[in-house]
Amino acid sequence: MSIVAAAAALSLPISLSRSNKFHATKCLRGGFGVFAIIGEEGGLVERKSPWTSLFDVEDPRAKVPQYKGKFLDVNQALEVARYDIQYCDWKARQDVLTIMLLHEKVNYHLLVTISLCGLRMSLVIVFVVVEVINPLAREFKSIGTLRKELADLQVELAQAHNQVHISEARVSTALDKLAYMETLVTDKILQDTSTTGPDLLLPSSTLSLPPAKSRQPKRSINVSGPVQPYNDHLKNFWYPVAFSAGLKDDTMMPIDCFEEPWVLFRGKEGKPGCVQNTCAHRACPLDLGSINEGRIKCPYHGWEYSTDGKCEKMPSTKFLNVKIKALPCFEQEGMIWIWPGNDPPTPKLPSLLPPSGFQIHAEIVMELPVEHGLLLDNLLDLAHAPFTHTSTFAKGWSVPSLVKFLTPSASSLQGYWDPYPIDMEFHPPCMVLSTIGISKPGKLQGQSTRECATHLHQLHVCLPSSKQKTRLLYRMSLDFAPILKHVPFMQHLWRYFAEKVLNEDLRLVLGQQERMLNGTNVWNLPVSYDKLGVRYRQWRDSVERGSKELHSQYNFLDQ
Ligand code: FES
Ligand SMILES: [Fe+2]
Repeated sequence: MSIVAAAAALSLPISLSRSNKFHATKCLRGGFGVFAIIGEEGGLVERKSPWTSLFDVEDPRAKVPQYKGKFLDVNQALEVARYDIQYCDWKARQDVLTIMLLHEKVNYHLLVTISLCGLRMSLVIVFVVVEVINPLAREFKSIGTLRKELADLQVELAQAHNQVHISEARVSTALDKLAYMETLVTDKILQDTSTTGPDLLLPSSTLSLPPAKSRQPKRSINVSGPVQPYNDHLKNFWYPVAFSAGLKDDTMMPIDCFEEPWVLFRGKEGKPGCVQNTCAHRACPLDLGSINEGRIKCPYHGWEYSTDGKCEKMPSTKFLNVKIKALPCFEQEGMIWIWPGNDPPTPKLPSLLPPSGFQIHAEIVMELPVEHGLLLDNLLDLAHAPFTHTSTFAKGWSVPSLVKFLTPSASSLQGYWDPYPIDMEFHPPCMVLSTIGISKPGKLQGQSTRECATHLHQLHVCLPSSKQKTRLLYRMSLDFAPILKHVPFMQHLWRYFAEKVLNEDLRLVLGQQERMLNGTNVWNLPVSYDKLGVRYRQWRDSVERGSKELHSQYNFLDQ
């Protein structure tokens, strides 16, 4: 009894009060058989729950025994307790159901949210892709634009190049015209001097004087006394110094140029080099040594130099960085050229080849004991031939009443001899080119080289070795008798002829030199047939004075 009373006192009031509270707030439509889920749009969506049987339990509250205010016996107390338990069970099921409903609803919202998020993500990805692709497209477009702009620039550059070439051609033409006009003026003055007095040619220094004054004193070019130190301006030219055929891979060719000793040899790839012929160690001449793998090797202690003058081997001692002087050295058209000057070399080497149709038959080198200017004076003069070369090519020539050198071309250093069929040119700085018309070998006939069927072409290079020494390079070409190239010993025969002719000149020039050194002027009284020689002296004088005007007149010859 006390147990029943206690149970009633403890459980009933609590269970009943809970039941009432729940009932007042809970409202489920359609009982337990159907779940009602609120849709996204606010409507109800009915679904058959898989948990229907679990929650299909009758609400026990309608059958609760009515014992309120009464004293309960044992059975009644047990009944009340049973109903109370049933109610708790039912209530628990309802709570679970509520939780499940809420859970499903949360899941649904979650699903919707995730879907929306997925959609947003997709949009973001699409956006990002578009944002990535757009700059690429823009960049692709700009590369295309750049290409087009580059092509336009290249066209403009080509046009600018053309303009430069045209301007160069215009300047060149203007210079030619200027040179031609100067020639005309000079020729006019020469004619005046030859008709108004003795057969006298005045030097450049008198050309600017008024005619009345210029006729008064007989002034001459002054080439007398010991040869002065070579002027630096004269060194700023390309000088041919050897024939290619003479410089083998193991050859050391010593040469003097402007009073300095040099040695030519071929480097590793066969390219020629020109270095000072004095070892940096103790001044031994390098040409006494040997060639070792493209380096010249001093015979004294074995130092080896490359073509740029760098010492690359120094046996038996700690290696030192040593360099000897080397000159710009190139090979062109069968000749080795050097640039002895301090100015930067001009980019183009002159061409000294004979005209097409000629074949080279002889290349001869001689060292002559005369100053190179005196030898050039001699080579640029043809009037002496019937007097001097009576044992060689001019044997039997008659002496003309008048010999002239005519310069019809723009260059005052190039022309032809009258009455001889010989064209001649002084080619700065020290070359003489001549073409001799020969109707029969050994015979001079006709008035001009064009009238002759066959020709001999000569190149004389007078390298200024020292004040009394010239290195002469002689090349002879023919436009006939090619068979002569294959005749044995013909080279020796050509050398014999060349030396014989030269010796006829040399004894005279040596005599001139002796007088010159003693103070006599070797150009004391120039006459009209001395024109080419005088012009060489005028050219040399202007170069040595550094005169831009007259120098530029001859510059085009180097192009
Ligand atoms: S002098 Fe040339 S290595 Fe000594
Ligand atoms: Fe001569």
